[in-house]
Amino acid sequence: MTAKPITPLSDSLTALELSTDLHNERRKPQPLILVIFGATGDLASRKILPAICHLAIRKELPDEFVIVGAASSEIDDEGFRKIVYEATKDIDDPDGIWEKYAKKFRYISGDYMSADTFLQLDKVLSEIDEECKTSGNRVYYLATIPKLFSVVANGLKTVGCNKPKAKESFVRLVVEKPFGVDLESAKSLDNALHKAFAEEQIFRIDHYMGKETVQNVLALRFANAIFEPIWNRRYVDHIQITVAETLGVEHRGAFYETAGALRDIVQNHVMQVLSLTLMEPPASMEAGGIRDEKVKLLKAVEIGNIDEQVNTTVRAQYAAGEIDGQRVAGYREEDGVSPTSETETYIATRLYVDNWRWAGVPIYIRTGKRLQKRITEVSMVFQRPPHLPFAGRLSRDLRADVLSLRIQPDEGISLSFGAKIPGPSFKVKTVSMNFSYKDAFQEIAVDAYERLLLDAMLGDPMLFIRTDEVEQAWRIVAPIQASFAQGEPPLARYTSGTFGPIEAERLIQASGRQWQNL
Ligand code: BG6
Repeated sequence: MTAKPITPLSDSLTALELSTDLHNERRKPQPLILVIFGATGDLASRKILPAICHLAIRKELPDEFVIVGAASSEIDDEGFRKIVYEATKDIDDPDGIWEKYAKKFRYISGDYMSADTFLQLDKVLSEIDEECKTSGNRVYYLATIPKLFSVVANGLKTVGCNKPKAKESFVRLVVEKPFGVDLESAKSLDNALHKAFAEEQIFRIDHYMGKETVQNVLALRFANAIFEPIWNRRYVDHIQITVAETLGVEHRGAFYETAGALRDIVQNHVMQVLSLTLMEPPASMEAGGIRDEKVKLLKAVEIGNIDEQVNTTVRAQYAAGEIDGQRVAGYREEDGVSPTSETETYIATRLYVDNWRWAGVPIYIRTGKRLQKRITEVSMVFQRPPHLPFAGRLSRDLRADVLSLRIQPDEGISLSFGAKIPGPSFKVKTVSMNFSYKDAFQEIAVDAYERLLLDAMLGDPMLFIRTDEVEQAWRIVAPIQASFAQGEPPLARYTSGTFGPIEAERLIQASGRQWQNL
């Protein structure tokens, strides 16, 4: 059965309506210059430039919009425009809108350690303001390697580019994860950034927050009256969060060796999904309210001390196997990876949220690369009814009720519950009711980067990660980091193309539960 969207009842949606001013589809940023540091790199070509191109073609950018690329490669404006062309050539631009923008794009080459680079940048930005009427507004995007984040922020400050030159203009800094490698380094990165930029100017990107279906968690919870009353420890037995990927580490072996699944996915994407799913209702959809509630929730997360971690965490690495009929290499055979690597590509763990609403409800998390399917999902598994009037045999096929929020792919929501099997006896079994985004809406979901870049240009911080959220997320994973550093729990192995190691099954089975079938 497929649920259809229903026309909202006007007075029951005050919080969401409030947000329509902020989250209005037709809003356009003011004139501005987007400066991309690391403009010749992979992130710029794969994500940033295509996202900007799509925004331009959909007419969501102001006419007075210019990109300035900055990097160490010694190319000129034309060389950069070629990079822009290569990154966006497959995007349909029938009216030549993007082409018109791209003609104005500029490039600065230089060493980020040298003040000259930033002096030159400042000069070019002023020239563009003159020529293209970009009004002194700047968005700086740090798409460099992480160790340059603070160097660039400092360079901008040295020449006064960290502050608006006029009262009515704005200067913002967009930062990509990783935000440090642990709590200490995250704090020092923030200290360094805060020497040049105020927190309100900093927009930290976690692309999961740009996903429609992640945002839909808020709509499901707070635009409906039926879910919230059961969204707590009285009704929920446990929660499962799964981020399963079929991809391996691709060309990022060297980077991944220093990250592992804990830092790459759990500390950021999983914590974002977790906090939106379990936080208290905000008073309004205004950025501060939502981010405050997310932080409050994260502050209540307890993961146990180092010793407890060893019993409730599984770390594992993929061995060679088969995915979609294709033979794939094991992690230790990947480029840039040590043949004796102990880096985890899979992690399963359990945590608790120690607050009034969630006390005692276990939250099971699993994420891994090279698994059988690509699925990101949150499942609320409900308690069993207090008494089943159907004798054992009749309810053999009845499982607990589950509400699953499918974040990707096949975005949607499904509810599984018990129903009577037609026939003379009173046999019941689990069935499911599915809502599919694709079937219910014609609108095409925009890519997460498009949404986030547009919000950064508009100055809407709601979907960006505040400094206290980053710190809380590192605090939560710190005991796991510490146990991994001691080589505990021992690294397990799983065959590529499976659903992960047997140890993860045992972890959840120890409490009489099991992972949802994906
Ligand atoms: C990135 C990780 O943040 O998220 C990658 O660094 C991972 O390793 C990716 O593959 C997953 O994103 P998505 O949008 O495909 O779920």
